Amino acid sequence: MNVIRSLLIAAAAAVLAAPPAAAQTAPKLKVGLMLPASGTYAALGTAIENGFKLYVAEQGGKLAGREVEFAQVDDESDPAKATDNVNKLLKRDSVDVLVGSVHSGVAMAMAKVAKDTGTPLIVPNAGAAAVTGSMCAPNIFRSSFSNWQPGYAMGEVVAAKGHKNVVTITWHYAAGDESVRGFKEAFEKAGGKVVKELSLPFPNVEFQALLTEIAATKPDAVYTFFAGGGAVKFVKDYAAAGLKKSIPLYAAGFLTDGTLEAQGADAEGLLTTLHYADDLGTPRDKAFRLAYAKAYKVQPDVYAVQGYDAAQMLAAGLTAVKGDLTRKPEFDSAIENAKIDSPRGAFTLSRSHNPVQDIYLRQVVGKENKLVGVASKALADPGQGCSM
Ligand code: BEZ
Repeated sequence: MNVIRSLLIAAAAAVLAAPPAAAQTAPKLKVGLMLPASGTYAALGTAIENGFKLYVAEQGGKLAGREVEFAQVDDESDPAKATDNVNKLLKRDSVDVLVGSVHSGVAMAMAKVAKDTGTPLIVPNAGAAAVTGSMCAPNIFRSSFSNWQPGYAMGEVVAAKGHKNVVTITWHYAAGDESVRGFKEAFEKAGGKVVKELSLPFPNVEFQALLTEIAATKPDAVYTFFAGGGAVKFVKDYAAAGLKKSIPLYAAGFLTDGTLEAQGADAEGLLTTLHYADDLGTPRDKAFRLAYAKAYKVQPDVYAVQGYDAAQMLAAGLTAVKGDLTRKPEFDSAIENAKIDSPRGAFTLSRSHNPVQDIYLRQVVGKENKLVGVASKALADPGQGCSM
């Protein structure tokens, strides 16, 4: 009898000693960051990571009560390695959520795996049409743009300036091709003509022969998509070839975002279109820029904003399900219906999960992409091929 009594007392003591359910710590949330840490897009990857981590730090390191930890791979902006890299995050590191990447080809490989496995994926840069088009899925979201968006907006701007014949030049892969396609669609709809489409393989930066061809063609203007290290070299080579004085250069804003320190005077005056500018001057953007500069000792760029907003989107989903990622439909629909309070200006997502956002016209003045105006208000990617 005494033995039974002591056992009961011990059991009761154990129950009392256990923390109440509410006080039990939620399991950590493992975020897999797949970004370039090397190559021409390395700086873009760093800015995205900084932006994402800044938002998490502002929430005390937790989203919906779950402490956030990271697993990372350098994807080298190499689509051939992308499937292996994303599987490392899923199988070796057992991540709960995927965030990546910069390069469109890498993001398409990530989207395929995310679609097959149902793992939530937030794309914090790559603009590939397929990600929010033919590959769209309830668990795939983008916090950045589609390649079409800045290109389309610039097509309207260049036509409105009265230019008739334009040569385009870019890297021949999804980002460059789709950016040019967006530009051409708007420019030709407005009566202009793209007379030559020049390209070179990614990440080649031997521009000389193509610049000679532009000089010989003598178009009214040039439209381009380049980003990162390649953008720095292109702007310098365009000026060194004497073309900046004779043929106006217009671009998707990646040409001059995060690159102005290195481009110096060769970028001065360039007009570009993008969903961010350095001097939006809103209280939201000012607070973000201050916090980012304090944390990282550099000014933020569009990539930092996209990383920050990817974390905001994840937080919106997690908050709705109180951190419980097994409640997938509720998690997905909370992100789908969220209004993201972005430094770029608040945005919502399209039916295919791409930001519906203002595209700004900017001009390089000193080391800043200064706001000229809104080139295209609440521009939505068509999301062609998306059915879900
Ligand atoms: C892309 O590959 O989609 C991309 C890369 C850098 C800047 C913008 C787009």
